[in-house]
Amino acid sequence: MEQLHQPVMLAEVLNVLQPKDGESLLDLTAGFGGHARAILQATKAYKKSVLVDRDQMALDSLNDIKAQGATLMHADFLAAARELAQTKRRFDLILADLGVSSPQLDRGERGFSFMREGDLDMRMDQTQTLTAKTVVNTYSERDLANIFVKYGEVRSGMAIKIAREITHARPFSTTQELADLIKKHSPYSRHHPATQFFQALRIEVNDELGLLERMLPLLPDLLNPGGRLCIISFHSLEDRIVKTWLTDEANKGLESKLITNKKFLTAGVQELANNPRARSAKIRFAARA
Ligand SMILES: C[S@@+](CC[C@H](N)C(=O)[O-])C[C@H]1O[C@@H](n2cnc3c(N)ncnc32)[C@H](O)[C@@H]1O
Repeated sequence: MEQLHQPVMLAEVLNVLQPKDGESLLDLTAGFGGHARAILQATKAYKKSVLVDRDQMALDSLNDIKAQGATLMHADFLAAARELAQTKRRFDLILADLGVSSPQLDRGERGFSFMREGDLDMRMDQTQTLTAKTVVNTYSERDLANIFVKYGEVRSGMAIKIAREITHARPFSTTQELADLIKKHSPYSRHHPATQFFQALRIEVNDELGLLERMLPLLPDLLNPGGRLCIISFHSLEDRIVKTWLTDEANKGLESKLITNKKFLTAGVQELANNPRARSAKIRFAARA
């Protein structure tokens, strides 16, 4: 089968999770199943495993895993974690590989990429109503500037300038129209100037940081004693949330249900040369006491 999305730091994920025969998996961001297939090959516990994604396109690629007995959930990971916790489900292995997948970025019509012409969409879950078009065309200048600063880490002067230009020039309907406007009003930089603005819009549309912050505290109760969890983040805003949560858990001392680890892992040189997405990837991990 053609591999649409190359799983990031697969060897490190397997090393951290140490999947064993019969162990159950909760994959909170199953995507195209690269990590899940490798883990399930070791555990063979398809029937005890649950794979979550908020994107139906991703779930449609997991029919082979479903056919072996795994449960697929079309939900955001906060809703899924709440539902599983309510029914007192427990797992031996939990994985969250955050952010977007390559197919989401590569398909222009999904509207995530400033390098591909498409509708300004950016929804991971296409049944959701809020799109990037709504954000760009209806948010106030001030709200747009705040998003660019908070989620894109754009300098405040530049964020205000671009927010103003957007409100003067809107409505926008395509990724290219927006990328061109940002480029026209931004100084030259090493990256395309739209990179940070598109990241900010994507995070806002999908409430990526809010969901992550609220989902993490549910994880200890979803793990069996001795269970392991692994989280892969792709930018400092995500990583800060994961790191803060693990530090708070560590500070609880004996009260914590987790054995945390200050260490984090990054990709090795060989992977860095072959998979550009791995450049910013960071793995943090913990185990249930
Ligand atoms: C980086 S990809 C995962 C790739 C996967 N590990 C693989 O090897 O194919 C991230 C996936 O997580 C999904 N996702 C991101 N945030 C989510 C959330 N809050 N809830 C559920 N799924 C989410 C995206 O739709 C995307 O399919």
